[in-house]
Amino acid sequence: MLKARLVVDRDFVLSDIDRRVFGAFVEHMGRCVYGGIYEPGHPTADEQGFRGDVLELTRELGATIIRYPGGNFLSGYNWEDGVGPREERPVRRDLAWFSTETNQFGTNEFMDWSKKAGIEPMFGVNLGTKGPDEARRFLEYCNHSGGSELSDLRREHGYEKPHDIKFWCLGNEMDGPWQICHKTAEEYGRVALETAKVMRWVDPTIQLAACGSSHRNMPTYGSWEYEVLDHCYDEVDFISLHTYFNNNADSASEYFGVIELLDAFIKEVAAICDAVGAKRRSYKKIMLSLDEWNVWYKTHKIEHMRKPGWPEAPPLIEEVYNAEDALIVGGALIAILNNADRVKTACLAQLVNVIGPIMTETGGAAWRQTIFHPFALASKYGHGRVLRTVSDSPSYSAKTFPEIPYLYATVIDNPADGTTTVIALNRSLSDNLEVDIELRGLGAERSLVAATEIHHANLKAVNTKDAPNTVAPKTNADVAIEGETVRVKLKPASFNVIVTKAAQPN
Ligand code: AHR
Repeated sequence: MLKARLVVDRDFVLSDIDRRVFGAFVEHMGRCVYGGIYEPGHPTADEQGFRGDVLELTRELGATIIRYPGGNFLSGYNWEDGVGPREERPVRRDLAWFSTETNQFGTNEFMDWSKKAGIEPMFGVNLGTKGPDEARRFLEYCNHSGGSELSDLRREHGYEKPHDIKFWCLGNEMDGPWQICHKTAEEYGRVALETAKVMRWVDPTIQLAACGSSHRNMPTYGSWEYEVLDHCYDEVDFISLHTYFNNNADSASEYFGVIELLDAFIKEVAAICDAVGAKRRSYKKIMLSLDEWNVWYKTHKIEHMRKPGWPEAPPLIEEVYNAEDALIVGGALIAILNNADRVKTACLAQLVNVIGPIMTETGGAAWRQTIFHPFALASKYGHGRVLRTVSDSPSYSAKTFPEIPYLYATVIDNPADGTTTVIALNRSLSDNLEVDIELRGLGAERSLVAATEIHHANLKAVNTKDAPNTVAPKTNADVAIEGETVRVKLKPASFNVIVTKAAQPN
């Protein structure tokens, strides 16, 4: 049995949690839109063709904001193709995924779907084949009340009220050579600045995110962020960062290191933002939008991303997640929460079928992948503020990261209901980890609200249509409370959520 200690103090607050860190992503890619959220004729589809089973699972997942319509797709997208009478919408070849796009689902359908799903939209403007002019035109269509050509066009399309979309991404992964109309940092920094300016003139209430690096391993990483922000620092609120985790060595101990790398990535990008701010002697802080993140390695080869013959909605990168992937997703959520002072939006990519927590069969069932569960638990209990943690845990070393503590945890205090939530990973593959958690100043008379674990003896176990609950949350019965201390036993390779409540909330 390994032992560890975790200490927090009510007064040592890292940050309030921005609920937008529990975001997801819907791209016109594979079966994410068509056959995912939208499938007219499906037994659960509503009058608009939205799958009811997927809507229900999206609500259960607890996604708060959803990024749309891409992704790489964004860089070749004409927003006008996806609005207005359906029978007049053009069918086009999508050069991002070598697929045929029918445009039967577009901006207004996504807004209707968002309302039914109870999520906030996060939109992107095409800075690949398009530029500032299209961006301002699109924003006018979406957010202006009326009395101008494009806002009146929206009204003609049946949407009297503006959509009032608050969060906008200035393009997608513009540092990537794979991007349609990839740019250098200077080219992109200039276009991001000018696009941001005109968009803010159309609607000063929006928030804007410039593209950061597509990955920490990009050759331009670091200099890209610096140069882009050197151009557009004063006009943007966020810089994005994207990351997809790989289980390179097929060893869970090595795999856990990717969580530490995410933490390093976040801190590095924040430092670069602050370096640009320091050079300008600016008091403004740029926040981080981790607007694409997930595990993605089993379907990362080109044959998983492109199917011959320009098919409509082919199955692309339909990664099947296993128990260890769920632990990585859980660990990434802990890293995001432990950086809640800088990460204000984050999107698990994507929502359904395409590297998604939800999987569907066209015409058939929908089920929860393993990674659904840590996300749903973190979103359910991720209300309030993150406390600064001091932890003392045995550790091990790996090639992915030199020192990996077995215990990886975050503590959330929710003054609204008096609960304190500890989200903790045990990264030992062989040993239980007994953790003493001191909740200083959070109230001594504590009771247990919930103790849930995600653990499976077989790290390769998966959920399927026929066995959808192989990896699912269970109760962790090994919790004891003594005064302000919660003592919990974490199973080897497990993700845990322990919620306690003080009798007298502070
Ligand atoms: O999520 C799949 C793809 O990964 C996105 O389209 C792109 O932005 C990223 O490279």
